[in-house]
Amino acid sequence: MRDVSLEDAIEELRAGRLVALPTETVYGLGADALQPDAVRAIFAVKGRPANHPLIVHLASAADLDAYVREVPAAARRLADVLWPGPLTLVLKRGDAVPLEVTGGLDTVALRVPAHPLALALIRGLGSPIAAPSANRFGKVSPTSAEHVRADLGDTDIALLDGGPSALGIESTIVDCSQGAPTVLRRGGVTREVLEDVLGAPIPEAADLSVRAPGMHPSHYAPRAMVIALEAGEIDAFVASSEPPYTLVARHPRALPSGARYLEMPSEPAGLARQLYGMLRELDARGETRIVMEVPPGQGLGWAIADRLARASAAR
Ligand code: TXA
Ligand code: MG
Repeated sequence: MRDVSLEDAIEELRAGRLVALPTETVYGLGADALQPDAVRAIFAVKGRPANHPLIVHLASAADLDAYVREVPAAARRLADVLWPGPLTLVLKRGDAVPLEVTGGLDTVALRVPAHPLALALIRGLGSPIAAPSANRFGKVSPTSAEHVRADLGDTDIALLDGGPSALGIESTIVDCSQGAPTVLRRGGVTREVLEDVLGAPIPEAADLSVRAPGMHPSHYAPRAMVIALEAGEIDAFVASSEPPYTLVARHPRALPSGARYLEMPSEPAGLARQLYGMLRELDARGETRIVMEVPPGQGLGWAIADRLARASAAR
């Protein structure tokens, strides 16, 4: 990888090359969304199947109309209130969006990231940026430039270092392409906030594998086995299970030798920020089993519980 300045990153994208870029959620692996060859390169580098659609990153909610066929009232309201921010809207694809971006789908996912460098990059390019998370296929998303280097260091892709991701978990994806909004992926915008903006409860889509291709549990799992437990289940696990494992929980326990303890931030925001870094770190240490306390389901706990459920279902 090559560390580049904002100006050089803009030139790279203009020339049809890829740039790893910071966002408030996780790092993205970006290409000019309007250059189909550049978009195809993303799939090649990630080892990602071509039918897994990408998110299109815009500089402003005002640009939305240029890339979709229609903007239903609920989508307009969500965009107006929550952009820039960790919310992705799925809408009917406008003709300006190449089919390479959407994996052939007639819908497109869009968001305005809340990161000054990402916004400056999109504005400087004068074109939206298509980007999946900047991890290799099958790794957890990168939340720092270091994570991106660990995954893509052997490529000559440009990296725009914007510091650690402030949020640390991916965007919430809301499908507004088929009538009433539904949640396709939990993320940085909480259910409470969505329902507050919409003034109505919002259901989660029933069959995610069909509605959002590429949401397989293994995409959110480290190499180590993850065992996700409610706080009240931890003592029974410790009493009955053979080490080695690392327990990640809010409060330390007396553990048998061979078991390690890692303190988990008790605030969901702190946990979201550190979660993927923690999982990567434990993988790097060669940990085989990670036992993790599931936080309460309100606020960001909603998305964190989802990622832990996916990580523990992966095998
Ligand atoms: O926070 C994020 O969303 C980050 C940053 C970089 O913006 N991006 C990210 O991208 O997490 P990725 O590619 O790892 O996940 C995008 C998800 C995929 O699960 C994909 O299925 C879904 O978005 N998606 C994209 N376009 C879609 C569409 N047209 N319909 C349904 N799901 C879509
Ligand atoms: Mg991803």
